[in-house]
Amino acid sequence: MKSFDVIAAADEQGGIGKDGKTPWHIPGELRWFREVTTTCSENKNAVIMGRVTWESLPNNVKPLKGRVNIVVTASRELEGAMTAKSLQEALDYSWENPEIANVIIIGGALLYKEALLHPNCGYLVLSVIPGDYGCDKFIEVPASFKLIGSRSHKGFTVNCFVRGR
Ligand SMILES: NC(=O)c1ccc[n+]([C@@H]2O[C@H](COP(=O)([O-])OP(=O)(O)OC[C@H]3O[C@@H](n4cnc5c(N)ncnc54)[C@H](OP(=O)(O)O)[C@@H]3O)[C@@H](O)[C@H]2O)c1
Repeated sequence: MKSFDVIAAADEQGGIGKDGKTPWHIPGELRWFREVTTTCSENKNAVIMGRVTWESLPNNVKPLKGRVNIVVTASRELEGAMTAKSLQEALDYSWENPEIANVIIIGGALLYKEALLHPNCGYLVLSVIPGDYGCDKFIEVPASFKLIGSRSHKGFTVNCFVRGR
């Protein structure tokens, strides 16, 4: 079935970024992100991100290893990643590619907004970071998303939501 999931980390105000970066450093959360977005099978997951998020990744981690990196940008060619002109183009490419296992949207704010309203969005996996980091970019969980599970980790809590039909 054509579906995709969304993964994000936000502070208690829903803040996801500040000045083009993530304003916290929680190694356990980064490990969690890597584990959830990477498969151990032959087929790789696609991680779809906006151009600003791609640019925010440190050079030593991009492209994200073991995953097919797809960057949504209306206008640019980028070194190290595939590009798509729209979220839908990135999704269609991923769904049509038999070598891609799961499709995951990894930010930022613009892409989250569009993805969470998309009819094929399945789950949102949201790490909540305690505190208020004075962010300038936010994620808003639509009311149609229902919390189905919550788990505490060191320094963050993972909430899993499913999109209501
Ligand atoms: N906490 C988290 O989980 C998390 C995850 C990811 C990012 N972030 C943070 O989020 C912030 C970046 O978010 P952002 O909203 O500024 O940028 P973004 O969503 O990463 O990228 C926006 C850019 O992506 C392209 N784009 C997005 N939607 C598009 C569409 N529908 N059609 C065509 N192009 C589209 C455009 O690129 P062009 O201008 O090139 O056309 C647009 O300028 C940073 O602070 C980053 O650190 C946080």
